[in-house]
Amino acid sequence: MAITTCIFDAYGTLFDVAAAAREASEEPGRDAFAARWMEVANNWRLKQLQYTWLRAVADAHTDFWQVTQDGLDWALEAAGLDGDMELRERLLALYWELSAYREVPVMLATLKAAGMNTAILSNGSPDMLDGAVRSAGLEMLLDDVLSVQDVGVFKPAAAVYDLVGKRFGCTKEEVLFVSSNGWDAGCATGYGFTTAWVNRAGEPVDRLPWTPKYILSDLTTIPEHASA
Ligand code: LAC
Repeated sequence: MAITTCIFDAYGTLFDVAAAAREASEEPGRDAFAARWMEVANNWRLKQLQYTWLRAVADAHTDFWQVTQDGLDWALEAAGLDGDMELRERLLALYWELSAYREVPVMLATLKAAGMNTAILSNGSPDMLDGAVRSAGLEMLLDDVLSVQDVGVFKPAAAVYDLVGKRFGCTKEEVLFVSSNGWDAGCATGYGFTTAWVNRAGEPVDRLPWTPKYILSDLTTIPEHASA
């Protein structure tokens, strides 16, 4: 069945999650952080995601902004930087204005020109996603921004992926779901979407019962895969 609807994960897929730590590391007076920013960025992301999975399993849902702060606090403490409250506030502020990857605007415009539905489906809270979409100037290229907030559980719960069919009235087979998270792309395959994993870092495939249909190094070829 032909793809009619292209759905994107947000953080790490359209928006560069390492950008907040990278930008802060380049600011004057941050020598201690500059020496360890990559470790902080990696731990921040890892803990943020772990907390979403644990909260989903433990039935203890909260806002994505809360797990984003909790993950950062863990990462800063692990790096011995938890006393620097100004750094914490700066990193959190930068998370609201993450840059999009370079190829994103042209890729989305190509999909729209081909008549595809386009949307984000993210763990992010609506206000966080709104900030990121606006700061990257993507408002006109997306038909909607779907947040897990509407179902009260994080990915990869099926209730989250169900939001797509509810919004666009499409079947699972008509959806190309794109994520930079191997587990998200794998679980979305299990759900029934056609999937693309954007594996910028060249990581191994997640050992799950399902694997992504396409494995790509960036988003450039998404329009080709959508019309394949
Ligand atoms: C999201 C995270 C998982 O945007 O990247 O949902």
